[in-house]
Amino acid sequence: MDKLIVHGGSTLKGSVNISGSKNASLPILAASLLTDQDCIIRRVPDVSDTNYMIQILSALGADVERSSGTVRISCKEVADTAPYELVRRMRASICVMGPLLARLGRAVVSLPGGCVIGDRPVDLHLRGMEALGAKIEIEGGNITLTAKKGLKGANINLSGSHGPTVLGTDNVMMAATLAKGTTVIEGAAAEPEVVDLADFLNAMGAKIEGAGTRRITIEGVSSLHGVEHTVIPDRIEAGTFMAAAALAGDHVVLRRVCREHLAAITAAIEASGHKVEFNKTGTQCTIIRGNKLKGVDLETAPYPGYPTDMQAQMTALLATTPGISVIKDTIFPQRFMHCAELKRMGADIKIDHGTAVVRGVKRLTAAPVMASDLRASAALVLAGLTAKGSTTISRLYHIDRGYEHIDEKLLTLGAEVERVKE
Ligand code: EPU
Repeated sequence: MDKLIVHGGSTLKGSVNISGSKNASLPILAASLLTDQDCIIRRVPDVSDTNYMIQILSALGADVERSSGTVRISCKEVADTAPYELVRRMRASICVMGPLLARLGRAVVSLPGGCVIGDRPVDLHLRGMEALGAKIEIEGGNITLTAKKGLKGANINLSGSHGPTVLGTDNVMMAATLAKGTTVIEGAAAEPEVVDLADFLNAMGAKIEGAGTRRITIEGVSSLHGVEHTVIPDRIEAGTFMAAAALAGDHVVLRRVCREHLAAITAAIEASGHKVEFNKTGTQCTIIRGNKLKGVDLETAPYPGYPTDMQAQMTALLATTPGISVIKDTIFPQRFMHCAELKRMGADIKIDHGTAVVRGVKRLTAAPVMASDLRASAALVLAGLTAKGSTTISRLYHIDRGYEHIDEKLLTLGAEVERVKE
Protein backbone atom coordinates (compact mmCIF):
# COMPACT_ATOMS: atom_id res chain seq x y z
CA MET A 1 0.00 0.00 0.00
CA ASP A 2 1.27 3.45 -0.90
CA LYS A 3 0.97 6.62 1.07
CA LEU A 4 1.44 10.21 -0.02
CA ILE A 5 3.45 12.78 1.86
CA VAL A 6 2.45 16.33 1.03
CA HIS A 7 4.89 19.01 2.19
CA GLY A 8 2.70 22.09 2.59
CA GLY A 9 3.49 25.61 1.51
CA SER A 10 4.58 25.42 -2.16
CA THR A 11 2.84 27.60 -4.71
CA LEU A 12 1.32 25.74 -7.66
CA LYS A 13 2.22 27.20 -11.06
CA GLY A 14 2.10 26.19 -14.70
CA SER A 15 -0.33 23.95 -16.52
CA VAL A 16 -1.72 20.47 -16.37
CA ASN A 17 -3.72 18.27 -18.78
CA ILE A 18 -7.01 16.91 -17.51
CA SER A 19 -7.57 13.20 -18.23
CA GLY A 20 -10.54 11.47 -19.79
CA SER A 21 -13.50 10.94 -17.47
CA LYS A 22 -13.42 7.88 -15.22
CA ASN A 23 -17.18 7.90 -14.75
CA ALA A 24 -17.83 8.14 -18.49
CA SER A 25 -15.23 5.46 -19.29
CA LEU A 26 -16.69 2.81 -16.97
CA PRO A 27 -20.15 2.42 -18.60
CA ILE A 28 -18.67 2.98 -22.06
CA LEU A 29 -16.23 0.10 -21.52
CA ALA A 30 -19.18 -2.04 -20.34
CA ALA A 31 -21.23 -1.01 -23.41
CA SER A 32 -18.70 -2.71 -25.68
CA LEU A 33 -20.31 -5.98 -24.48
CA LEU A 34 -23.30 -5.08 -26.67
CA THR A 35 -21.52 -5.93 -29.94
CA ASP A 36 -19.32 -8.70 -31.30
CA GLN A 37 -17.38 -6.12 -33.32
CA ASP A 38 -14.28 -4.17 -32.22
CA CYS A 39 -14.69 -1.00 -30.16
CA ILE A 40 -11.85 1.47 -29.83
CA ILE A 41 -12.14 3.84 -26.89
CA ARG A 42 -9.68 6.72 -26.50
CA ARG A 43 -8.67 8.79 -23.47
CA VAL A 44 -9.59 6.09 -20.98
CA PRO A 45 -7.77 7.22 -17.81
CA ASP A 46 -5.16 4.87 -16.38
CA VAL A 47 -6.78 4.46 -12.95
CA SER A 48 -7.55 1.32 -11.00
CA ASP A 49 -11.34 1.52 -11.59
CA THR A 50 -10.90 1.34 -15.38
CA ASN A 51 -8.44 -1.51 -14.83
CA TYR A 52 -11.05 -3.39 -12.76
CA MET A 53 -13.61 -2.88 -15.51
CA ILE A 54 -11.17 -4.20 -18.11
CA GLN A 55 -10.47 -7.23 -15.90
CA ILE A 56 -14.22 -7.89 -15.62
CA LEU A 57 -14.65 -7.65 -19.40
CA SER A 58 -11.71 -10.01 -19.91
CA ALA A 59 -13.18 -12.47 -17.39
CA LEU A 60 -16.46 -12.32 -19.37
CA GLY A 61 -14.56 -13.38 -22.50
CA ALA A 62 -13.57 -10.07 -24.09
CA ASP A 63 -10.28 -9.65 -25.85
CA VAL A 64 -8.85 -6.34 -24.57
CA GLU A 65 -5.72 -4.44 -25.58
CA ARG A 66 -4.73 -1.24 -23.83
CA SER A 67 -2.00 1.17 -24.81
CA SER A 68 -1.53 4.74 -23.60
CA GLY A 69 -5.15 5.69 -23.05
CA THR A 70 -6.60 3.73 -25.97
CA VAL A 71 -8.52 0.54 -25.27
CA ARG A 72 -9.52 -1.86 -28.03
CA ILE A 73 -12.20 -4.36 -27.03
CA SER A 74 -13.53 -7.31 -28.94
CA CYS A 75 -16.40 -9.28 -27.40
CA LYS A 76 -16.95 -12.12 -29.87
CA GLU A 77 -18.15 -14.60 -27.23
CA VAL A 78 -19.50 -13.38 -23.90
CA ALA A 79 -20.26 -15.28 -20.68
CA ASP A 80 -23.30 -14.23 -18.63
CA THR A 81 -21.77 -14.29 -15.15
CA ALA A 82 -19.58 -11.51 -13.80
CA PRO A 83 -17.21 -13.06 -11.23
CA TYR A 84 -17.78 -11.90 -7.64
CA GLU A 85 -14.04 -11.64 -6.91
CA LEU A 86 -13.75 -8.82 -9.45
CA VAL A 87 -17.19 -7.27 -9.12
CA ARG A 88 -16.94 -6.78 -5.34
CA ARG A 89 -13.97 -4.41 -5.80
CA MET A 90 -15.99 -1.76 -7.61
CA ARG A 91 -19.65 -0.77 -7.39
CA ALA A 92 -19.68 0.48 -10.98
CA SER A 93 -19.32 -3.17 -12.12
CA ILE A 94 -23.13 -3.20 -11.86
CA CYS A 95 -23.21 -1.55 -15.28
CA VAL A 96 -22.29 -4.80 -17.05
CA MET A 97 -25.80 -5.96 -16.08
CA GLY A 98 -27.71 -4.05 -18.80
CA PRO A 99 -25.42 -5.00 -21.70
CA LEU A 100 -25.21 -8.70 -20.68
CA LEU A 101 -28.97 -8.97 -20.28
CA ALA A 102 -29.58 -7.24 -23.63
CA ARG A 103 -27.07 -9.35 -25.53
CA LEU A 104 -27.58 -12.78 -23.89
CA GLY A 105 -31.02 -12.64 -22.28
CA ARG A 106 -29.35 -13.57 -18.98
CA ALA A 107 -27.00 -11.84 -16.56
CA VAL A 108 -25.64 -12.83 -13.17
CA VAL A 109 -24.03 -9.99 -11.22
CA SER A 110 -23.20 -9.76 -7.51
CA LEU A 111 -25.35 -7.46 -5.44
CA PRO A 112 -23.06 -4.61 -4.36
CA GLY A 113 -22.39 -4.48 -0.63
CA GLY A 114 -22.03 -1.51 1.74
CA CYS A 115 -20.21 1.65 0.78
CA VAL A 116 -18.48 4.22 2.92
CA ILE A 117 -20.22 7.17 1.19
CA GLY A 118 -23.73 5.88 1.84
CA ASP A 119 -26.21 3.05 1.45
CA ARG A 120 -26.14 2.95 -2.39
CA PRO A 121 -28.93 0.50 -3.24
CA VAL A 122 -29.59 -0.77 -6.80
CA ASP A 123 -33.40 -0.98 -6.56
CA LEU A 124 -33.86 1.54 -9.36
CA HIS A 125 -31.61 -0.44 -11.74
CA LEU A 126 -33.69 -3.53 -11.00
CA ARG A 127 -36.97 -1.64 -11.36
CA GLY A 128 -35.84 -0.65 -14.86
CA MET A 129 -34.77 -4.16 -15.86
CA GLU A 130 -38.04 -5.60 -14.56
CA ALA A 131 -40.04 -3.07 -16.57
CA LEU A 132 -38.14 -4.20 -19.67
CA GLY A 133 -39.39 -7.72 -18.97
CA ALA A 134 -36.52 -9.30 -17.01
CA LYS A 135 -37.25 -11.85 -14.29
CA ILE A 136 -35.14 -11.09 -11.25
CA GLU A 137 -33.94 -13.49 -8.56
CA ILE A 138 -31.62 -12.63 -5.71
CA GLU A 139 -29.85 -15.53 -4.08
CA GLY A 140 -26.48 -16.11 -2.46
CA GLY A 141 -25.58 -12.44 -2.88
CA ASN A 142 -26.11 -12.60 -6.65
CA ILE A 143 -28.75 -11.03 -8.87
CA THR A 144 -29.84 -13.28 -11.70
CA LEU A 145 -31.79 -11.58 -14.48
CA THR A 146 -33.42 -13.53 -17.27
CA ALA A 147 -35.39 -12.47 -20.32
CA LYS A 148 -35.76 -15.68 -22.33
CA LYS A 149 -37.73 -14.02 -25.13
CA GLY A 150 -35.62 -10.86 -25.08
CA LEU A 151 -36.38 -7.45 -23.58
CA LYS A 152 -39.40 -5.30 -24.52
CA GLY A 153 -39.51 -1.50 -24.55
CA ALA A 154 -41.41 0.14 -21.68
CA ASN A 155 -42.10 3.43 -19.92
CA ILE A 156 -39.90 3.61 -16.82
CA ASN A 157 -39.59 6.24 -14.11
CA LEU A 158 -36.13 6.10 -12.61
CA SER A 159 -36.27 8.91 -10.05
CA GLY A 160 -35.67 7.86 -6.49
CA SER A 161 -35.87 9.64 -3.14
CA HIS A 162 -32.36 11.10 -3.65
CA GLY A 163 -33.04 12.12 -7.26
CA PRO A 164 -32.12 10.35 -10.49
CA THR A 165 -29.58 7.54 -10.70
CA VAL A 166 -26.58 7.91 -13.02
CA LEU A 167 -25.51 4.28 -13.43
CA GLY A 168 -29.17 3.17 -13.24
CA THR A 169 -29.96 5.40 -16.24
CA ASP A 170 -26.87 4.03 -18.02
CA ASN A 171 -27.86 0.43 -17.31
CA VAL A 172 -31.45 0.79 -18.50
CA MET A 173 -30.38 2.82 -21.54
CA MET A 174 -27.87 0.11 -22.54
CA ALA A 175 -30.40 -2.70 -22.00
CA ALA A 176 -33.08 -0.85 -24.00
CA THR A 177 -30.86 -0.39 -27.09
CA LEU A 178 -31.52 -4.01 -28.11
CA ALA A 179 -35.08 -4.32 -26.70
CA LYS A 180 -38.07 -4.70 -29.00
CA GLY A 181 -39.95 -1.42 -29.35
CA THR A 182 -39.55 1.93 -27.66
CA THR A 183 -38.39 2.65 -24.11
CA VAL A 184 -38.98 5.99 -22.40
CA ILE A 185 -36.95 6.74 -19.27
CA GLU A 186 -38.55 9.49 -17.17
CA GLY A 187 -36.58 10.99 -14.29
CA ALA A 188 -33.35 10.12 -16.11
CA ALA A 189 -29.96 11.39 -14.92
CA ALA A 190 -28.70 14.22 -17.15
CA GLU A 191 -25.00 14.04 -16.24
CA PRO A 192 -22.49 14.63 -19.08
CA GLU A 193 -21.26 11.05 -18.53
CA VAL A 194 -24.75 9.76 -19.47
CA VAL A 195 -24.65 11.90 -22.63
CA ASP A 196 -21.20 10.52 -23.51
CA LEU A 197 -22.50 6.96 -23.15
CA ALA A 198 -25.54 7.80 -25.33
CA ASP A 199 -23.18 9.27 -27.96
CA PHE A 200 -21.13 6.08 -27.85
CA LEU A 201 -24.24 3.89 -28.19
CA ASN A 202 -25.68 6.02 -31.02
CA ALA A 203 -22.36 5.72 -32.87
CA MET A 204 -22.79 1.92 -32.48
CA GLY A 205 -26.16 2.18 -34.24
CA ALA A 206 -28.49 2.70 -31.28
CA LYS A 207 -31.41 5.14 -31.54
CA ILE A 208 -31.35 7.27 -28.41
CA GLU A 209 -32.81 10.76 -28.07
CA GLY A 210 -32.97 13.14 -25.14
CA ALA A 211 -29.78 12.17 -23.29
CA GLY A 212 -28.83 15.15 -21.13
CA THR A 213 -32.49 15.77 -20.23
CA ARG A 214 -34.77 14.07 -17.71
CA ARG A 215 -36.55 12.13 -20.49
CA ILE A 216 -34.65 9.72 -22.69
CA THR A 217 -36.27 7.79 -25.54
CA ILE A 218 -34.65 4.65 -26.90
CA GLU A 219 -35.97 2.90 -29.97
CA GLY A 220 -34.69 -0.66 -29.90
CA VAL A 221 -32.57 -1.96 -32.80
CA SER A 222 -31.73 -5.56 -33.70
CA SER A 223 -27.93 -5.25 -33.44
CA LEU A 224 -25.12 -2.81 -32.72
CA HIS A 225 -21.76 -2.49 -34.44
CA GLY A 226 -18.17 -1.57 -33.57
CA VAL A 227 -17.17 2.06 -33.04
CA GLU A 228 -14.34 4.48 -32.24
CA HIS A 229 -14.95 7.00 -29.50
CA THR A 230 -13.06 9.58 -27.43
CA VAL A 231 -14.14 9.95 -23.81
CA ILE A 232 -15.08 13.43 -22.47
CA PRO A 233 -12.75 15.27 -20.05
CA ASP A 234 -13.08 14.37 -16.38
CA ARG A 235 -15.03 17.27 -14.86
CA ILE A 236 -14.35 16.07 -11.30
CA GLU A 237 -10.60 15.82 -11.84
CA ALA A 238 -10.76 19.30 -13.39
CA GLY A 239 -12.77 20.58 -10.41
CA THR A 240 -10.27 19.05 -8.00
CA PHE A 241 -7.38 20.85 -9.72
CA MET A 242 -9.45 24.06 -9.78
CA ALA A 243 -9.85 23.80 -6.01
CA ALA A 244 -6.12 22.99 -5.59
CA ALA A 245 -5.22 26.02 -7.71
CA ALA A 246 -7.59 28.25 -5.74
CA LEU A 247 -6.04 27.04 -2.48
CA ALA A 248 -2.39 27.10 -3.37
CA GLY A 249 -1.93 28.33 -6.92
CA ASP A 250 -0.74 31.29 -8.90
CA HIS A 251 -2.48 31.39 -12.30
CA VAL A 252 -2.61 27.62 -12.78
CA VAL A 253 -3.84 26.60 -16.24
CA LEU A 254 -5.97 23.49 -16.81
CA ARG A 255 -6.01 22.13 -20.36
CA ARG A 256 -8.51 19.79 -22.04
CA VAL A 257 -11.52 20.81 -19.94
CA CYS A 258 -15.15 21.43 -20.92
CA ARG A 259 -16.46 24.80 -19.67
CA GLU A 260 -20.10 23.77 -19.92
CA HIS A 261 -19.59 20.71 -17.68
CA LEU A 262 -17.78 22.87 -15.11
CA ALA A 263 -20.42 25.60 -14.71
CA ALA A 264 -21.56 24.69 -11.16
CA ILE A 265 -18.00 24.11 -9.91
CA THR A 266 -16.80 27.36 -11.49
CA ALA A 267 -19.68 29.24 -9.85
CA ALA A 268 -18.78 27.80 -6.42
CA ILE A 269 -15.06 28.63 -6.75
CA GLU A 270 -15.93 32.15 -7.90
CA ALA A 271 -18.47 32.61 -5.09
CA SER A 272 -15.63 32.01 -2.62
CA GLY A 273 -13.71 34.90 -4.17
CA HIS A 274 -11.42 33.35 -6.83
CA LYS A 275 -11.56 33.87 -10.56
CA VAL A 276 -11.78 31.27 -13.32
CA GLU A 277 -11.02 32.46 -16.86
CA PHE A 278 -11.76 30.24 -19.85
CA ASN A 279 -10.31 30.54 -23.35
CA LYS A 280 -12.72 31.21 -26.23
CA THR A 281 -13.40 27.55 -26.94
CA GLY A 282 -13.93 26.74 -23.26
CA THR A 283 -11.32 23.98 -23.37
CA GLN A 284 -8.74 25.64 -21.15
CA CYS A 285 -9.05 27.66 -17.96
CA THR A 286 -6.85 29.70 -15.65
CA ILE A 287 -7.55 29.89 -11.93
CA ILE A 288 -6.65 33.21 -10.36
CA ARG A 289 -6.47 33.11 -6.59
CA GLY A 290 -8.56 35.87 -5.06
CA ASN A 291 -7.61 38.22 -2.25
CA LYS A 292 -11.10 38.91 -0.88
CA LEU A 293 -12.25 35.45 0.07
CA LYS A 294 -15.54 34.48 1.70
CA GLY A 295 -17.47 31.43 2.83
CA VAL A 296 -20.19 30.00 0.58
CA ASP A 297 -23.39 27.99 0.96
CA LEU A 298 -23.45 24.91 -1.24
CA GLU A 299 -25.93 22.14 -1.80
CA THR A 300 -25.10 19.14 -3.95
CA ALA A 301 -27.65 18.27 -6.62
CA PRO A 302 -27.93 16.17 -9.77
CA TYR A 303 -26.36 17.76 -12.88
CA PRO A 304 -26.42 20.65 -13.73
CA GLY A 305 -26.31 21.25 -9.95
CA TYR A 306 -23.19 21.15 -7.81
CA PRO A 307 -21.75 17.59 -7.91
CA THR A 308 -21.51 15.44 -4.79
CA ASP A 309 -18.18 14.19 -6.19
CA MET A 310 -16.76 17.71 -5.61
CA GLN A 311 -18.19 18.15 -2.11
CA ALA A 312 -15.14 16.92 -0.16
CA GLN A 313 -12.61 18.92 -2.21
CA MET A 314 -14.65 22.12 -1.82
CA THR A 315 -14.91 21.48 1.92
CA ALA A 316 -11.09 21.34 2.02
CA LEU A 317 -10.87 24.67 0.17
CA LEU A 318 -13.46 26.30 2.44
CA ALA A 319 -11.72 25.00 5.60
CA THR A 320 -9.22 27.86 5.20
CA THR A 321 -11.52 30.38 3.52
CA PRO A 322 -12.51 33.19 5.92
CA GLY A 323 -16.15 33.20 7.03
CA ILE A 324 -18.74 30.49 7.48
CA SER A 325 -19.65 27.99 4.77
CA VAL A 326 -22.61 25.64 4.87
CA ILE A 327 -22.30 22.52 2.71
CA LYS A 328 -25.21 20.15 2.33
CA ASP A 329 -24.95 16.82 0.51
CA THR A 330 -28.45 15.85 -0.56
CA ILE A 331 -27.30 12.92 -2.71
CA PHE A 332 -25.08 11.15 -0.18
CA PRO A 333 -25.93 12.74 3.22
CA GLN A 334 -23.35 10.53 4.97
CA ARG A 335 -20.46 11.52 2.71
CA PHE A 336 -18.53 13.50 5.34
CA MET A 337 -15.78 11.07 6.43
CA HIS A 338 -13.12 13.52 5.23
CA CYS A 339 -14.31 16.08 7.79
CA ALA A 340 -13.09 14.03 10.75
CA GLU A 341 -9.63 13.89 9.13
CA LEU A 342 -9.69 17.60 8.23
CA LYS A 343 -10.52 18.33 11.87
CA ARG A 344 -7.38 16.43 12.87
CA MET A 345 -5.55 19.04 10.79
CA GLY A 346 -7.22 21.88 12.71
CA ALA A 347 -10.30 22.53 10.57
CA ASP A 348 -13.39 23.85 12.35
CA ILE A 349 -16.26 21.76 10.97
CA LYS A 350 -19.54 20.64 12.52
CA ILE A 351 -21.67 17.99 10.83
CA ASP A 352 -25.39 17.78 11.37
CA HIS A 353 -27.89 15.74 9.30
CA GLY A 354 -26.01 15.74 6.00
CA THR A 355 -24.78 19.30 6.40
CA ALA A 356 -21.28 20.53 7.25
CA VAL A 357 -20.86 23.95 8.81
CA VAL A 358 -17.30 25.09 8.14
CA ARG A 359 -15.77 28.04 9.93
CA GLY A 360 -12.67 28.99 7.94
CA VAL A 361 -9.44 28.94 9.95
CA LYS A 362 -6.23 30.77 9.03
CA ARG A 363 -4.12 27.71 8.33
CA LEU A 364 -4.32 23.95 8.80
CA THR A 365 -1.48 22.01 10.38
CA ALA A 366 -0.11 18.76 8.98
CA ALA A 367 -1.10 15.45 10.55
CA PRO A 368 -1.10 11.78 9.59
CA VAL A 369 -4.54 11.23 8.02
CA MET A 370 -6.38 8.37 6.40
CA ALA A 371 -8.17 8.32 3.06
CA SER A 372 -11.65 6.77 3.29
CA ASP A 373 -12.86 7.03 -0.32
CA LEU A 374 -11.78 8.51 -3.62
CA ARG A 375 -12.98 12.10 -3.21
CA ALA A 376 -12.23 12.22 0.53
CA SER A 377 -8.60 11.36 -0.25
CA ALA A 378 -8.44 14.15 -2.84
CA ALA A 379 -9.72 16.56 -0.17
CA LEU A 380 -6.93 15.52 2.18
CA VAL A 381 -4.29 16.06 -0.52
CA LEU A 382 -5.69 19.56 -1.11
CA ALA A 383 -5.65 20.30 2.61
CA GLY A 384 -2.03 19.15 2.79
CA LEU A 385 -0.95 21.57 0.04
CA THR A 386 -1.26 24.63 2.28
CA ALA A 387 -1.01 23.02 5.74
CA LYS A 388 1.95 23.85 7.96
CA GLY A 389 4.30 20.86 7.84
CA SER A 390 4.12 17.48 6.11
CA THR A 391 0.79 15.66 5.85
CA THR A 392 0.91 11.89 5.39
CA ILE A 393 -2.14 10.42 3.67
CA SER A 394 -2.38 6.66 4.01
CA ARG A 395 -4.57 4.22 2.03
CA LEU A 396 -3.67 6.00 -1.16
CA TYR A 397 -5.25 3.21 -3.23
CA HIS A 398 -8.51 5.14 -2.84
CA ILE A 399 -7.15 8.07 -4.83
CA ASP A 400 -5.60 5.78 -7.45
CA ARG A 401 -9.10 4.49 -8.23
CA GLY A 402 -10.03 7.70 -9.97
CA TYR A 403 -7.18 10.21 -10.38
CA GLU A 404 -4.70 9.47 -13.14
CA HIS A 405 -1.12 9.96 -11.85
CA ILE A 406 -2.19 12.65 -9.39
CA ASP A 407 1.20 12.83 -7.68
CA GLU A 408 2.98 13.36 -11.02
CA LYS A 409 0.52 16.05 -12.04
CA LEU A 410 0.96 17.87 -8.73
CA LEU A 411 4.74 17.63 -9.05
CA THR A 412 4.49 19.20 -12.52
CA LEU A 413 2.68 22.13 -10.91
CA GLY A 414 5.43 22.53 -8.32
CA ALA A 415 3.82 20.84 -5.33
CA GLU A 416 6.12 18.93 -3.01
CA VAL A 417 4.62 15.46 -2.83
CA GLU A 418 6.21 12.03 -2.36
CA ARG A 419 4.62 8.63 -2.91
CA VAL A 420 6.14 6.09 -0.53
CA LYS A 421 5.41 2.45 0.34
CA GLU A 422 3.69 1.96 3.70
N1 EPU B 1 -30.02 5.33 -5.54
C1 EPU B 1 -31.10 4.60 -5.13
N2 EPU B 1 -31.39 3.43 -5.81
C2 EPU B 1 -30.67 3.01 -6.87
C3 EPU B 1 -29.55 3.78 -7.30
C4 EPU B 1 -29.26 4.95 -6.61
O1 EPU B 1 -31.78 4.95 -4.17
O2 EPU B 1 -30.99 1.97 -7.44
C5 EPU B 1 -29.67 6.58 -4.82
C6 EPU B 1 -28.27 6.57 -4.24
O3 EPU B 1 -28.22 5.92 -2.98
C7 EPU B 1 -27.92 8.04 -4.19
C8 EPU B 1 -28.62 8.59 -5.42
O4 EPU B 1 -29.64 7.63 -5.76
O5 EPU B 1 -28.47 8.63 -3.05
C9 EPU B 1 -27.72 8.81 -6.61
O6 EPU B 1 -26.92 7.66 -6.84
P1 EPU B 1 -26.49 7.23 -8.31
O7 EPU B 1 -27.16 5.96 -8.66
O8 EPU B 1 -26.65 8.37 -9.24
O9 EPU B 1 -24.94 6.92 -8.10
P2 EPU B 1 -24.10 5.95 -9.04
O10 EPU B 1 -24.65 5.99 -10.39
O11 EPU B 1 -23.95 4.64 -8.36
C10 EPU B 1 -22.41 7.72 -9.90
C11 EPU B 1 -20.95 7.98 -9.80
C12 EPU B 1 -20.59 8.42 -8.40
C13 EPU B 1 -21.40 9.68 -8.07
C14 EPU B 1 -22.89 9.40 -8.24
C15 EPU B 1 -23.76 10.63 -8.03
C16 EPU B 1 -19.99 6.44 -11.41
C17 EPU B 1 -19.16 5.27 -11.69
N3 EPU B 1 -20.22 6.76 -10.15
O12 EPU B 1 -22.69 6.67 -8.99
O13 EPU B 1 -19.21 8.74 -8.43
O14 EPU B 1 -21.14 10.08 -6.75
O15 EPU B 1 -23.14 8.91 -9.57
O16 EPU B 1 -23.41 11.63 -8.92
O17 EPU B 1 -20.42 7.13 -12.32
C18 EPU B 1 -17.04 9.02 -7.58
O18 EPU B 1 -16.63 9.11 -8.75
O19 EPU B 1 -16.34 9.32 -6.58
C19 EPU B 1 -18.40 8.53 -7.34
C20 EPU B 1 -18.79 8.00 -6.18
